Amino acid sequence: MEIFTAIRKDHEKQRLLMKILVETTGNSESRQKYFTELKAELAHHAIAEERHFYSPLMESDNTIEPSRHAIAEHHEIDELVEKLENTDMSSSAWLIHMKSLQELVLHHLDEEEHEFFQQAGKVLTAAQKQKLADEYRHEMEIQES
Ligand SMILES: [Fe+2]
Ligand SMILES: [Fe+2]
Repeated sequence: MEIFTAIRKDHEKQRLLMKILVETTGNSESRQKYFTELKAELAHHAIAEERHFYSPLMESDNTIEPSRHAIAEHHEIDELVEKLENTDMSSSAWLIHMKSLQELVLHHLDEEEHEFFQQAGKVLTAAQKQKLADEYRHEMEIQES
């Protein structure tokens, strides 16, 4: 498996969790459960992706700028997650912030998949693409354990 496939699989999980979350209402059990899951998914993915995808790509002149951009977006996502954590789940503001988070994350994932992967594909060798996938998946297992 290539690193792009490994990352895409986890992006799909995030998309699904966000799709479910914007359909939840009030301070419900499902809202709590899926938000906890989404927070973990986002946090673990950002760590594994920064360590085993962006970090090696920071070494190339061709991918340093987009890597920085993506990492900056991870911070924006973190801040919005924090805002949600500090908002009462039973208030209407929660869903508004959740929809902003969904918009931001979807933008980020699409940019990674449709722009950054193409640039990274030219910089990484076939062996690196495989190796990074193994490292990325191993890191996700550690984070999730
Ligand atoms: Fe990312
Ligand atoms: Fe990602």
